[in-house]
Amino acid sequence: MTPCLPDGPQARPEVESLQAYSAPLEGRRGLLRLDFNENTVGPSPKVVEAIRAIPADHYAIYPEYDGLREAVVASLGGSGLSPAHIGLFNGVDAALHAVFHAYGALGDRLLTTSPTFGYYSPCARMQGMAIEALPYRGAEFAFPLEQIRAALLGPGGAGEPSGNWQPPRILLLCNPNNPTGTRLAPELILELAAAAPRTLVVVDELYEAFTGDSVLPPLLNLGAADSFAAHPNLLVLRSLAKTAGLAGLRIGFAIGAPALVDRISRVTGPYDINSFAVTAARAALADQAYVDGYVAEVLRAREWLLEQLQAAGIRHHAAGGNYLLLWPSRPAAEVDAELRRAGILVRSMAGKPLIDGALRVSLGSRQQMARFWVAYQAIEAKGISASP
Ligand SMILES: Cc1ncc(COP(=O)(O)O)c(C=O)c1O
Repeated sequence: MTPCLPDGPQARPEVESLQAYSAPLEGRRGLLRLDFNENTVGPSPKVVEAIRAIPADHYAIYPEYDGLREAVVASLGGSGLSPAHIGLFNGVDAALHAVFHAYGALGDRLLTTSPTFGYYSPCARMQGMAIEALPYRGAEFAFPLEQIRAALLGPGGAGEPSGNWQPPRILLLCNPNNPTGTRLAPELILELAAAAPRTLVVVDELYEAFTGDSVLPPLLNLGAADSFAAHPNLLVLRSLAKTAGLAGLRIGFAIGAPALVDRISRVTGPYDINSFAVTAARAALADQAYVDGYVAEVLRAREWLLEQLQAAGIRHHAAGGNYLLLWPSRPAAEVDAELRRAGILVRSMAGKPLIDGALRVSLGSRQQMARFWVAYQAIEAKGISASP
């Protein structure tokens, strides 16, 4: 008789030692959500209209993707991009998963920064990769450029294997970085990628709309027939979650050399992106004015909140992205809980290297940030009056 295993069959050792990546996603509706850097007001009305117009019998049909890659190419403008440069994914998280699945093997190395977006590490761990995460530097969380360059290019400085040294399999840069907002000039990223042809350089540009720092414009303005010809090891990730307001529908793009996009698409299922996401993405890409208006509103709200924080003398850090960090004068967990009682969600950075004790506050409209600020001040004031 086959022995009965109490926990069922064992998964791969890398999976057995992995903790599920979980985020506090439940019970957020109806609250002011400044915890996940989402768009805080919803998508363009044209997206809503397009989704409502899907006939019910279409729900029964597998999705059609024709035209969506072309729409992404058109939205990026410039020259030297074709639909073969665009990979479609069920959110950028799924693109990241596919990147690691296709390129990360047991014992390979992921080079990245710390602290950064939390899903990179589990993706590397599930492949059995080693992680080298180099810390941001100083009070301003500056990008550790020299350290990254040395870890990327190795003792010979050429990114070539030498002795026991192997180049990292993947360099993952979040630009601007979530959660520190750190910005790295696109030209420097292109330089790093060109210097390390054996490493896959992935640039997560989820928040680029809020800074304009992107590696794409310099590539698309070259007038080359293939914008990625000189950078066959570079992959750029973009999403419609944070600006266009489609986080719940899940749609993201990977942009790079056709051979790269082909490899990561091989480890993706044939219908992984659903029809609602496809329809919504088409409508969102066709209404860039809506996204531009939202981004402008967030940037205005950001200026206003920064003035308040400055005037109140509250330690904060804001660089790129639709979020900032602040350090409350009371324990962050208490302030987090009190904000929640006031109907406002923010994200505690407890346990994150360098920023333990900070709260990450997503930026929404001017009105939403005013509501946040009133609640925040009241909570801080309670702390002051309660102290001996
Ligand atoms: C840096 C970064 N990359 C990727 C993601 C996930 O994006 P998507 O919603 O498109 O899966 C997030 C979401 O917070 C993020 O902050």
